[in-house]
Amino acid sequence: MNEKFSIKDYMEKTIAEIRQLVGDKGVLLALSGGVDSSVCAALLSKAVPGQLTCIYVDHGFMRLNESDEIVEAFSDKDLNLIRIDAAERFLSKIKGVADPEQKRKNIGDEFGYVFDEEAKKLKGINFFAQGTNRADVIESGQDPEFKGSIVKTHHNLKLPTTLSFEGIIEPLAVLFKNQIRELAVELGLPAYWAQRPPFPGPGLAIRVIGEVTREKLETLRLADHIFREEVEKDAETMSHKPGQYFAVHTGVNSVGVNNGNRVFEGVIALRAISTTSFMEGEYTRIPHETLARASRRITNEIKTVSRVVYDITDKPPATIEWE
Ligand code: XMP
Repeated sequence: MNEKFSIKDYMEKTIAEIRQLVGDKGVLLALSGGVDSSVCAALLSKAVPGQLTCIYVDHGFMRLNESDEIVEAFSDKDLNLIRIDAAERFLSKIKGVADPEQKRKNIGDEFGYVFDEEAKKLKGINFFAQGTNRADVIESGQDPEFKGSIVKTHHNLKLPTTLSFEGIIEPLAVLFKNQIRELAVELGLPAYWAQRPPFPGPGLAIRVIGEVTREKLETLRLADHIFREEVEKDAETMSHKPGQYFAVHTGVNSVGVNNGNRVFEGVIALRAISTTSFMEGEYTRIPHETLARASRRITNEIKTVSRVVYDITDKPPATIEWE
């Protein structure tokens, strides 16, 4: 991209191209609530108002209150949003599965089935849109300039196979994350939405190490909420800023003491990474005071947690996610 590139010009040019391509036909988008698909939805609803249908598949691996927030964020946009509650289906699909890649695959497959089922019920859809970004393209080994192999199975690159479309619209495929965030602002999405840290497609399912159970998910959801709340209280004043911060259910139990009684409950790991590229990063030097508050709250408020640890590994050698 040349130096004169401006996100506003890009937006206008892309809107014009979408209008030209789509005409008065219908467009379908899988909305995940992440920045990419959200920006894609906002862009399309502006380009072809009233012609976009978004399917939001709630796989049950979202963070606390997140699904309601996603639906709420799009309530004032000129699009048709369909929310599918498929939590039970997804959980049974990964029952007994401990291998991370297998979990990703099963979740990706199930996502395809659920999405296809819903999409088939729709009439007048000619185009399929998705918020694929440049990093997705590179990581999947699809960029001719990039010689690497697929790093992980990113399920957001899967297209519905049983549906046929006149064309696929990927209006963000040449943009990097920072440019997509800029575009979010340009499109008038709320500032906090534009700055949302990334969240993996398979969600909390890959932040519960080993087999995912309802109880572990519930524990993780609460711990993650507390950690993020405590980080956000202090983030402004931190000299070392976290780009992504979350909790992980390690799947391990540890001995502890609760009200004078011996317990054997779960170990939660806290992870925070300072990075802008998300390809590499340093673990964030979160102040000990912040960590201490998070740890105390997690063990006091969640009876299924006996211990909290902090991940002090950079990327590389470790990835950001534990699975
Ligand atoms: P890793 O763990 O590979 O993560 O250092 C790099 C960035 O990608 C996110 N991530 C995913 N995003 N589907 C996604 O859409 C996935 O399966 C997935 N796995 C990791 C991760 O959160 C980080 O921002």
